[in-house]
Amino acid sequence: MGALASGAAITGWGVALPEQRLTNADLERLIDTNDAWIVERTGISERRIAGPDESTATLASTAGAAAIKRAGLTPSDIDLLIVATVTPEQPVPHTGAFVGERLGLSCGSFDINAACSGFVYELVVGAAMLRSGMRHVLVIGAETLSRITDPEDRGTAILFGDGAGAAVLSASDNDSLLAWDLGCDGSAADILAVPAGGSRLPASAATVEARGHYLKMQGQEVFRRAVRAVVESARVTLERAGTDASAVDWFVPHQANIRIIESAAARLAIPPERCLVNIARFGNTSSASIPIALFEAVDDGRVKPGDRVLLSGFGAGMTWASALIEWRGE
Ligand code: ACO
Repeated sequence: MGALASGAAITGWGVALPEQRLTNADLERLIDTNDAWIVERTGISERRIAGPDESTATLASTAGAAAIKRAGLTPSDIDLLIVATVTPEQPVPHTGAFVGERLGLSCGSFDINAACSGFVYELVVGAAMLRSGMRHVLVIGAETLSRITDPEDRGTAILFGDGAGAAVLSASDNDSLLAWDLGCDGSAADILAVPAGGSRLPASAATVEARGHYLKMQGQEVFRRAVRAVVESARVTLERAGTDASAVDWFVPHQANIRIIESAAARLAIPPERCLVNIARFGNTSSASIPIALFEAVDDGRVKPGDRVLLSGFGAGMTWASALIEWRGE
């Protein structure tokens, strides 16, 4: 703890992706689908799938360790760990406990379950903690969606992949978080859900038999609401920053479906060349998708210090979250 800072800056970042690939050709052998359909309807060609020794916590720890190193810090410098995930290591304790143990942290930790909006949620929460006196907060979006995807459901099996992205947020009087918007419409809770395994429908032989521990999705309804949520949330965020889409150097949407991304970007009047899109290679990695796309572009030099980056996600809940940040690369 130290003197109160007025803002937050991303000072370190890291990404973790499993080696194992699941291509559309692989899926053709497993379910009734084909490469042309998947590419045309989703933009996805392959996804990364966690191996037997990998889990949400191992991927999160790899990304988190890289972020701490990149920030030039040691684990004892971290004041708080937040892990965003819908695929926790296990129901109890929270995933942050396992990640903290792996990273050698003894600070407080908790998980956020805001689905694909999770990384932006934890960015906003982490920045608030820095304004309360903390110096460094580690935020990680990590998922092993392959573990909750029904291999026999061709509506979802084609979409999801595994991975993690992490950022160290550090107290700074030069605030990088220019504006944000968080929301949730719980009336849409059923359109994207894992129905069993919680207090309402505890695990039993019947829930397993009914495949209730897998992700169920009403794809078209998610699609329709997703475009609206991303566009409205992005607009609110730009308004709060006192600016508009012309000031956005990079748009980093949640990587759910190329058609959702293109439709939202077009409505926001953001040209395709200013959208960061990697869905072809990684599919939908939920809370990991935005940090993976952002940090890949930081590392290859597309995103430069001073660039204004609009992050926007939506997911189960139905949650949405947007943030306008100024990349400083400190
Ligand atoms: N391969 C081949 N054909 C298929 C497949 C498949 N994998 N899946 C469905 N079809 C068929 C259907 O049976 C249907 O055939 P019919 O016309 O003979 O009945 C036809 O293709 C069209 O099916 P739709 O379900 O209408 O396909 P749609 O164009 O809606 O695409 C998709 C489905 C890709 C799932 C789309 O709805 C979508 O991307 N929705 C949003 C999903 C999303 O963003 N999810 C993530 C949210 S956040 C989070 O993940 C946590």
